Amino acid sequence: MFSRIVGTGSHLPSRCVSNADLEKMVDTSDEWIRTRTGIKTRYLLGDDESNLDLAEGAVRNAMEMAGVGPDEVDLIIVGTTTPEQVFPNMGCLLQQRLDIHDCPAFSLEAACTGFVYALSVADMFIKTGGAKCAVVVGSETLSSIVDWTDRQTCVLFGDGAGAVVLKPSEEPGILSTHLSADGKYGDLLYVSSGVSKGFEGSESNRDYVQMRGNDVFKVAVRTLGKIAQIALDHNDMSTDELTWLVPHQANIRIIQAAAKKLSMPMEKVIQTVQDHGNTSAASVPLALDTGVRDGRIKRGDTLLLEAFGGGFTWGSALIKY
Ligand code: ACO
Repeated sequence: MFSRIVGTGSHLPSRCVSNADLEKMVDTSDEWIRTRTGIKTRYLLGDDESNLDLAEGAVRNAMEMAGVGPDEVDLIIVGTTTPEQVFPNMGCLLQQRLDIHDCPAFSLEAACTGFVYALSVADMFIKTGGAKCAVVVGSETLSSIVDWTDRQTCVLFGDGAGAVVLKPSEEPGILSTHLSADGKYGDLLYVSSGVSKGFEGSESNRDYVQMRGNDVFKVAVRTLGKIAQIALDHNDMSTDELTWLVPHQANIRIIQAAAKKLSMPMEKVIQTVQDHGNTSAASVPLALDTGVRDGRIKRGDTLLLEAFGGGFTWGSALIKY
């Protein structure tokens, strides 16, 4: 028994912010951002939007593509580091919005790897008969934890959401998932304030994304190369058998370096970082949905999804779409 993706969806917030817009906010330039990161635009929350709105939009699109109604859904997992509120968790809030009832609904936190973690957990539910129709979401509003006066970080991130619907199938679907993490890298990328430490009251309690960009870059490239190989070896496959690489969209140079390590031509890599920036847990499902909806990703294609993020966390999913 496999779990198979029967629908994909995504949703972006309303405010498109270009590099030229950022030039007016911090000491940066379109040229610096494009050459160092590949990013041209990103979408940020408008005044009346929230993470939950983004997640809801993505799930509705995925359910529509899958032809699935609320009564069928029996599992909701949301990967996010920027939940709407402390509780109810994002899964329960989504459940309520979508009129889905009486099924497990939770969020998990693995920074940019959140969607791949969520997909792996849902895959195990389905394969073991614990669920028959799972909604898996990566939804994130990094704009709420970025210091908009810090040019080293604020130019990198965007908001967004992506989702898939999974169902059991005797035909191959998700062939394997691999998850890992190593907390020893915690000081390279973090936000130190939070619910129990406190961030209300004084601004000095509040921390934003802190990052040692060069170090993150090196470990990301090394790790993404390694996990791709682990996934291929596990399935006794070679790079030639992959139709598409769908990597975490943090930086075009990280994507290029990871693809090169894998000997994967860039024509076979789904790239959305130029349009969306780094949307953390939303990045992989947003890229997947983009590729599906513009017709590049077709039924029967073999996809390698891979992600890397704060923690550090990392993971992959090798999929027959
Ligand atoms: N505009 C203009 N100049 C800038 C900016 C900016 N936005 N940000 C930094 N600079 C300056 C620096 O101050 C520095 O100036 P100096 O030489 O006078 O000291 C110069 O540009 C070079 O800075 P570096 O940090 O060495 O630039 P680098 O080439 O390493 O690029 C970057 C920085 C883009 C952050 C890169 O290290 C990177 O992408 N790292 C990965 C980080 C990442 O993707 N994090 C996201 C979360 S983790 C994940 O999703 C994988």
